[in-house]
Parts: sequence; structure tokens; C-alpha cells
Amino acid sequence: EKAPYPHFMLKEIHEQPQVIRETLRGRIEGTEIAFPGLKLDPGFLKSLRRLYITACGTAYHAGLIGKMLIERLVRIPVEADIASEFRYRDPLLGPGDLLVVVSQSGETADTLAALREAKAKGATVLAITNVVGSSVAREAHEVLYTWAGPEIAVASTKAYVAQVVLFTLLAVYLARLRESAPPELLRELAAGLPGLSETVQAVLAREEEIAALAGARKGWEHTFFIGRGLDWAVACEGALKLKEISYIHAEAYAAGELKHGTLALVTEGVPVIALATQPALWEKMQSNIREVKARGADVLAVTGAKAAEIVAVADEAICLPPVHPLLAPVVAVVPLQLFAYYAAVARGCDVDRPRNLAKSVTVE
Ligand code: F6R
Repeated sequence: EKAPYPHFMLKEIHEQPQVIRETLRGRIEGTEIAFPGLKLDPGFLKSLRRLYITACGTAYHAGLIGKMLIERLVRIPVEADIASEFRYRDPLLGPGDLLVVVSQSGETADTLAALREAKAKGATVLAITNVVGSSVAREAHEVLYTWAGPEIAVASTKAYVAQVVLFTLLAVYLARLRESAPPELLRELAAGLPGLSETVQAVLAREEEIAALAGARKGWEHTFFIGRGLDWAVACEGALKLKEISYIHAEAYAAGELKHGTLALVTEGVPVIALATQPALWEKMQSNIREVKARGADVLAVTGAKAAEIVAVADEAICLPPVHPLLAPVVAVVPLQLFAYYAAVARGCDVDRPRNLAKSVTVE
């Protein structure tokens, strides 16, 4: 039942603080991380020389975050790929390799086929899924569940947040095991995880402000989401959310790549959503925002509380509560979900049942 919310999507967006708590439950105690029930041999995890991630759509976007966090903390190469691509290119994995497949439903045909392909090649498969007993859960060697509860809206929101939380736990867990990152950093991240629930709640409390920003931009047919690093991955998800429910064309671009061919599409009044949650990249993002401003873009920044250099150049800014930069994706995606939701509502779209989209894609 969606009441008192008008749509399941909005209800599920609002469930995210709870979903974060559920996904962490039993897996984090103080700053210690454990995955009860996970039987993967620590020796195997210690000896991994690379890792693969594959998924479709929103789950793939969570995988992009997973890739960046694992590479950063575990210091092994991680390849994240779209399942429908991965499975057809005779992937270079075999015994001794680990493939992480991500699927909310656990039934997505391409993801399942990639899983089978990896198993046939002798690799170990770890599934991150939301549905107990789903095909992906049954066929993978190991499963980590996202405890997001049933996701009814076609546009995935809370499952994505749970997937990103799980990847963060996994990255910190592996880094501890392999002693590949400074212990203080890993402690700081582990200590910051439970607080994400309240931080997301604080963003949800600003729903009206975000609704107004989205309503003001509903008339456009074309928009860009830009960011660097983790923010680029979040931009991909923000653009997908907007496209799938509002039918406004949105393109996610790595901010530094705009000048390699795309800038001409940024014309007077085109909305550009600039993600800038990484202090180390603020200066670069500032110049990317200036580039689009010079072409007349209407820039809405999603940035940190102290990002004076970003706020100074953007037309408007949503400043997120303080959060560790490596944990920021979980928080930064929330205003983008609300933005997509309110842009779609303002255009009279059927938010929970967007056209040409199924909740579970069992065709290839
Ligand atoms: C977007 C969306 C889709 C799914 C994709 C994979 O909001 O819902 O992009 O993320 O079809 O589905 P699962 O995660 O069930 O494998």
C-alpha cells in the first residue's frame, strides 16, 4: 500500500533511511564489518588479483560506484560492465576470479546469462540481490542480500541505495582483510555508514525545495548531468531516473569530457545538473561549470555544505549535509531521485508505470 504517498516511487524514496539501517543490520558492529553466512574463503579473497562487476540499468550504476570504491580501497583493478555486453564478448575470467552480479529482482535475463557464463568459465560468482530465492540468488555461489523490501515502482530507488551501501561495506571489508588502505580511513568510513540514514533523512526533509527546482525545469526536453569520479557515476543514475519517468532527454557526462564534442549541445537555458561532492575535484568542477555557464546553461549544483567555489558559479545549489566524500553517493542520489520524480509529476507522467519499461526484464 502506498498511502499516504501518491506513488510507490515517492514512498520508496522515503523508505531509504530505513533501508540503509536494514542493509547494515548484523553486518556492522562499531567499526567492525562482517558478513555472517558468507562462505567465501578469506584466502581466496586475499589472493584476488582483479574483480568483475556486471549488471543492467540502475544496478549497473551501483556497480560503477562499487568499482570506484573497491579500486580506491582494495587497490586491485575492477572492471564494471553492462551484462548484455559482458556476456557476449567472451569475458576474460576463469578460476580464481570473482564476478559480482547486481540485480534488484534477481531475474534480469542478461544478468543471469552473464552469471552462467562466468560459472561455466570456472569463476566464482557473488550476487548482490534484493529477492530471496530469485534465480540469481539460487544460481550464484554466494549471495549478499540488500534488505530493501519489495520495490514496486518501476524506477529503482531504494534498491540502488542499498546496493551502494553494500558495495561500500564490501570495499571496506576487503580492504581490511588485505590491509590495502590506511586503517584510520577504513575506521572513518565504517563509523560513517550508520549515520547515512539520518543524513538521507535530512535531505528528504528538503523535498519541497527540490520539488520547486524540478518544477521550474519541467519544460525542457534536453538536459545534462555532469560530474567527476564518484559524482559521474551518480550523474549516470540521476540522468536515467529523469529519462525513464519524465521522458526528458538527459545525458550523463564525465565533466572533463564535455569539451571533447558535447559543449555545442549546451545552449541558452539548457539545464545542467552538476554533481560536486568531492572536495578534491571542486576546482576542476568549478571550471567545468564555468564552461557550460559561458554557453548559457542553467546550472543546478548538488554539492557539499562548504563548497563555496561551486555555489559561487552555479545558478542554484542544493548543499548536502556534511558526509565523507567516499560515502557521498548514497546521499547525493536522493535529490536526483526527487528531482526526477517531481519533474515527471509536473509533466503529468504515470510515475510508477513509465511507458515501455518492465520492472523485471526477462527478455534479452
Ligand atoms: C531503472 C531500472 C532498471 C533496472 C534494470 C536491472 O530504474 O529499474 O534500469 O535497474 O532493469 O534490473 P534488476 O536490478 O532487477 O536486475
